[in-house]
Amino acid sequence: MTTQRPLPSALAYVPFVSVDNMMRLVNHLGAETLLTELADYIEADFKRWPEFDKTPRIASHSADGVIELMPTADRENYGFKYVNGHPANMKRGFQTVTAFGVLSSVANGYPVLLSEMTVLTALRTAATSALVARYLAPRDATVMAMIGNGAQCEFQAMAFRAICGITDLRLYDIDPAATDKAARNLEAEGFAVTRCASGEEAVQGAQIITTCTADKQYATILTDNMVGAGVHINAIGGDCPGKTELHADILRRSDIFVEYPEQTRIEGEIQQLDPDHPVTELWQVMRGEAEGRREPRQITLFDSVGFAIEDFSALRYVSDLVRDTAFFEPLDMLADPDDPRDLFGMLRRAVD
Ligand SMILES: NC(=O)c1ccc[n+]([C@@H]2O[C@H](COP(=O)([O-])OP(=O)(O)OC[C@H]3O[C@@H](n4cnc5c(N)ncnc54)[C@H](O)[C@@H]3O)[C@@H](O)[C@H]2O)c1
Repeated sequence: MTTQRPLPSALAYVPFVSVDNMMRLVNHLGAETLLTELADYIEADFKRWPEFDKTPRIASHSADGVIELMPTADRENYGFKYVNGHPANMKRGFQTVTAFGVLSSVANGYPVLLSEMTVLTALRTAATSALVARYLAPRDATVMAMIGNGAQCEFQAMAFRAICGITDLRLYDIDPAATDKAARNLEAEGFAVTRCASGEEAVQGAQIITTCTADKQYATILTDNMVGAGVHINAIGGDCPGKTELHADILRRSDIFVEYPEQTRIEGEIQQLDPDHPVTELWQVMRGEAEGRREPRQITLFDSVGFAIEDFSALRYVSDLVRDTAFFEPLDMLADPDDPRDLFGMLRRAVD
């Protein structure tokens, strides 16, 4: 006769959002609704920027890529994301970027959510880009060039339609198979798509230029002559020391907007400039304390690297979203001895 093991108490369980549940959640809500709501959470957290503990992310670099930890906290919650960036992965059948993250209670240190964050990172990066463009891009923008048609591409497009009204996409990638993949997905979503043979062709007539390429080196995806007056540049792919996408001359002609200067000066496009080159912090623009777009001929640049508060907002959003739903599994993750000091005694529960 086998004896029944006692089940852990409710304290042991942490809600876990798997990749499967994240996909179901996106399909259930609709990507554009989710991206819009997520952008609202990110904006709300940017508007209370001084309340957060902030530090540049902790990066472990290797010849193949980078693995990073991205922590932040407010008075109520602590959050961190584990994320990698390995540009050669895609050719070996792996994702360039994978991630997972945790949101915890500051009051007792217990995790309140564990989530996949590969899909969620693509969503939060896109939601942040489009939110920022709402402050910086020309108001009447409908056409966006997208250079780099990999994993992030379609998420960016969906967010820019939902939040900024982009309807026409001009796609370019050095690998035509990537452009074919993105065009197929985006035409199915109702976009007007133009496949372009070069970056120069892609930027023709675009009011917004998104660069989301992956290469572990200084690259020149945009040269100075490709950027006309009045354009907004959403530069996603330059996010590591030695990994940039724009020619430095473009930076000198642009008004540059960043998430957290202490991190962007290490990782962003502005690593190519003097360490005191003027930049504007986006949280100040969102609070009305700094100017966004001032005039139609201005070139605005979002030098995006991805900051921990965006992941915190994403975890906070998902935590609120999945509560009272079936889009998570309870994970037996925390020890729950009957007497908090008798951790050793708890081991007897598992004696067969
Ligand atoms: N800023 C952020 O918050 C943030 C968040 C996520 C990812 N990223 C970065 O965004 C980039 C794209 O990520 P992904 O997951 O889409 O990668 P991916 O590997 O899936 O796609 C990258 C695409 O860029 C193309 N490419 C490479 N060099 C190019 C060039 N010179 N011209 C045109 N296309 C080129 C590749 O062929 C590939 O299709 C990566 O560098 C990643 O680190 C940034």
